Amino acid sequence: MTDNSQAKRRLRSQDWFDNPDHIDMTALYLERFMNYGITPEELRSGKPVIGIAQSGSDLTPCNRVHIELARRVRDGIRDAGGIPIEFPTHPIFENCKRPTAALDRNLAYLGLVEILYGYPLDGVVLTTGCDKTTPSALMAASTVDIPAIVLSGGPMLDGWHEGELAGSGMAIWRSRRRLAAGEIDEEEFLQTALDSAPSVGHCNTMGTASTMNALAEALGMSLTGCGAIPAAYRERGQMAYRTGRRAVEMVWEDLKPSDILTREAFLNAIRVNSAIGGSTNAQPHLAAMAKHAGVELYPEDWQVHGFDIPLLANVQPAGAYLGERYHRAGGTPAIMWELLQAGKLDGHCRTATGKSVSDNLRGREARDREVIRPYDQPLKERAGFLVLRGNLFDFAIMKMSVVSEDFRKRYLEEPGQEGIFRGKAVVFDGSEDYHKRINDPSLEIDENTILVIRGAGPLGWPGSAEVVNMQPPDHILKRGIRSLPTIGDGRQSGTADSPSILNASPESAAGGGLAWLRSGDIIRIDFNQGLCDMLVDDEEIARRKTDGIPPVPPDATPWQRIYRRTVTQLSDGAVIDGAADFRRIAENPPRH
Ligand code: FES
Ligand code: MG
Repeated sequence: MTDNSQAKRRLRSQDWFDNPDHIDMTALYLERFMNYGITPEELRSGKPVIGIAQSGSDLTPCNRVHIELARRVRDGIRDAGGIPIEFPTHPIFENCKRPTAALDRNLAYLGLVEILYGYPLDGVVLTTGCDKTTPSALMAASTVDIPAIVLSGGPMLDGWHEGELAGSGMAIWRSRRRLAAGEIDEEEFLQTALDSAPSVGHCNTMGTASTMNALAEALGMSLTGCGAIPAAYRERGQMAYRTGRRAVEMVWEDLKPSDILTREAFLNAIRVNSAIGGSTNAQPHLAAMAKHAGVELYPEDWQVHGFDIPLLANVQPAGAYLGERYHRAGGTPAIMWELLQAGKLDGHCRTATGKSVSDNLRGREARDREVIRPYDQPLKERAGFLVLRGNLFDFAIMKMSVVSEDFRKRYLEEPGQEGIFRGKAVVFDGSEDYHKRINDPSLEIDENTILVIRGAGPLGWPGSAEVVNMQPPDHILKRGIRSLPTIGDGRQSGTADSPSILNASPESAAGGGLAWLRSGDIIRIDFNQGLCDMLVDDEEIARRKTDGIPPVPPDATPWQRIYRRTVTQLSDGAVIDGAADFRRIAENPPRH
């Protein structure tokens, strides 16, 4: 809490605005801020300068509510005795940025690091929403390590189409299948998609956006309950105000990301991800955030700490409901409350509230058991990510919470073969190849086919694309089979409900095993042992290696080239190689 002795502590911003050794530079730093009416007295008052990292814009409609919310953040900062300074971050709009928004996460990270380090900021409110806006902001906050707090923008209101819930992404995947099966026409397909977006806010399903905002909260980086409040609710503006206030207090307490983002906090986030049926994109994003926080997080942690956690949130894509019901049921604090009671959460972790996780969760039991289940009456047991390895890759994951009963019966519970599946590979090089050939009868795709896509990883795409949730050919859909097993070195949408083995690392373009796979090869998957292999002998693999790695498109922009030269694999978070060497850089002020 603010007290006068702490208030006298010299702040980072004073090195710019109130530096008697460099009055010439101080004059320069001060003068241009005057031109919109701010006074030198304000900037030289010794009050904390709090950045508002504005991620909303017309190009990031999912976060656009922050343009409005920033007014309440400013009010909170002012009321707590700080000075707000708002600035834009690099836009990242998941659904629209080509070739993929994932390419921009590290770019937004780099930009924000330079801003937080190079400008007179004592603390920052990180406005988040759309998928990559959350990890990029938290990665940067860790690198710089000034007091930082997340303000989520919140999901859209629930979408409805003809009396049924129409959730972000889900509405599109479902109607795409219905379109292919001839049940609806293109006009209805388009209308369902439009109906799934009824208000300001980010995706209202438990896709990557809602997942990452829930995990920011689980990590302790936002106020309690921040993640789930719908963007259009009055509580969202109130949360913005309280977050602004809290940012100022955090500066006086010197409460930094490095005090909050511990290994225990990350393991909490992994468990929460299983319980909410969170996005598979949480894996690379948490890996990346941990890297920049200097925390050892291992790919196996998903299996060891996350796999056995049951699904508690009845929210699409793993469940039935959308963001509004989830929030009213108690949201992420109610999920965490269940995990804490079950002994599955470390309650000692410090958080942005200044209190521990268990203190934050007092009185946060769920209010609607249809939407948030008790730990011992879950929607699904063992709902985490299955971690797989073999001669096709060293690491890949499969999201068990979305594996349908139909799929389980067909593939996982065949008598005498429980958990073992053999299928014939049909290999696609990128999504253009998939779209061109998926309905080609000569591929002879049937229920024993495994659809494989490669060239979709960080190097291959570039950026790693959400393309592994490949829809089966029309003739399979018309027979009522809605999914085939798929494998790929890309990602899949957080809103997808496909039984995919994805994020395969190393990717084909890096010489991973998928590069040597050929259509017609038999793939054996042992779900119990976590093994996935092509049944091709070593000599044959060695021979195929002489064919070289399947080609990928050339760099199309300067950033694509820099990105490809620096990026690590998805198992490792697809971060900029070497960037994690820079930690807590705010401890050393920049020269001038
Ligand atoms: Fe932006 Fe889903 S597309 S949140
Ligand atoms: Mg997506």
